[in-house]
Amino acid sequence: MNKDLQSIVLTQEQIAEKVKAAAAWLDERLAGKKPLAISVLKGSVMFFCDLVRAMQTPVQIDFMTVSSYGASSESSGMPKIVMDLAASVKDRDVILVEDIVDSGYTLQRMRDLLMGRGASTFTTVTLFDKPSRRKVDIKADYSCFEIGDEFIVGYGLDYAQQYRTLPYVGILKREIYEK
Ligand code: IMP
Ligand code: MG
Repeated sequence: MNKDLQSIVLTQEQIAEKVKAAAAWLDERLAGKKPLAISVLKGSVMFFCDLVRAMQTPVQIDFMTVSSYGASSESSGMPKIVMDLAASVKDRDVILVEDIVDSGYTLQRMRDLLMGRGASTFTTVTLFDKPSRRKVDIKADYSCFEIGDEFIVGYGLDYAQQYRTLPYVGILKREIYEK
């Protein structure tokens, strides 16, 4: 385990199981459609790549970079689109893939933006959900794992752009982000 972690939340094997279940749920929900799967970068990239490869449904993929944090562990409340999609979402069945829903600002922003651009359906999948931290009333359609008010890193999730490449997810020691 990485020395800056306090404990492991999900091992590689546990992540693989969550991914498989989420992919099966999407396959059932979107049977017969040709969805556009969107990864909200950078946090969801690892989950996204595993998820779309575990699906049977043929999906197209696209990416959007959204930044809400800077080098902090608190959301700014104003998620910024740093890089927009290449594809049009008009009349598409959109699958939005998130790493974690925390305050809910990012998910709300994405939903308003993509529905506003004319997506015909909008399905959101998140690897983690932190319901106790919610600031706006919003929920992903499918959430793999619920956690309390802990700051987690690994498998795409970062603290100040670090730890994203760990193949597992763990709780970051408080002393790392409170110093
Ligand atoms: P929200 O807009 O507050 O819901 O936050 C969404 C974004 O904050 C996520 O996509 C993550 O990038 C980031 N985030 C929230 N909680 C954590 C965490 O525990 N570890 C790492 N990133 C987090
Ligand atoms: Mg982040």
